[in-house]
Amino acid sequence: MYPDLKGKSVVITGASSGLGRAMAVRFGREGAKVAVNYYQNEEDGKKVAQEVQQAGGEAIWLQGDVSKEQDVKALIAKTAEAFGSIDIMINNAGIENEVPSEKLSLDDWNKVIDTNLTGMFLGCREAISYMLDHGIKGNVINMSSVHEVIPWPHFVHYAASKGGVNMLTQTLALEYAPKGIRVNSIGPGAIDTPINAEKFSDPKAKADVESLIPMGYIGKPEEIAAAAAWLASSESSYVTGITLFADGGMTKYPGFQAGRG
Ligand code: BGC
Repeated sequence: MYPDLKGKSVVITGASSGLGRAMAVRFGREGAKVAVNYYQNEEDGKKVAQEVQQAGGEAIWLQGDVSKEQDVKALIAKTAEAFGSIDIMINNAGIENEVPSEKLSLDDWNKVIDTNLTGMFLGCREAISYMLDHGIKGNVINMSSVHEVIPWPHFVHYAASKGGVNMLTQTLALEYAPKGIRVNSIGPGAIDTPINAEKFSDPKAKADVESLIPMGYIGKPEEIAAAAAWLASSESSYVTGITLFADGGMTKYPGFQAGRG
């Protein structure tokens, strides 16, 4: 637990399920005030907000499409109005779909880039602009992926978006370090969340994924939420511009594990 997170105002995009939900509940346990952004399912957004409250935090739930400039502006404005500040911005919303690259439509490409990259840019810009205006030495966390470094056939739009998030994070970290605003990414590997539910329901597909993880198991959303809490806390005060891979070793070339090569 990180005492300095108590009372902090946190915005989490895409928080109605998966990693976003786990982070919202974790920040609730820390006693933070959490704006739970959801895209389509208000019931789920509201449910997560209630979980945050039960965990000991304050919460509101706010609709918004992160790829829409006006929605992101409204998300920041409404959170600031409700909680009086924006201290931590977690750009988490992301989507993926599997298509061989030669068949990938421009529409699918645009949807993934709009949400995963443009959406993160908008979230960073609006939160940082608020922090600068209010003299807040805030904290921005972008949800990247192991696929910011691992190429991923059939997911070229997703991998390209996460490669972009890598440079978004590093560049903004450099630009705003003098203002005391830290910008970091988290790079999860394979985690047990709804985005992977279908894949992991097939035992063969699940075993294939596990074989890519040196630690041998699919991560839990709480293990990513723990990384987010640390990055948001003052315990990581000298850390900016990194991607914290929380991936059971997936980025460490598992094919070489047996010492061949
Ligand atoms: C994706 C998951 C995938 C994992 C490892 C994540 O970024 O969202 O679907 O299992 O990377 O490949």
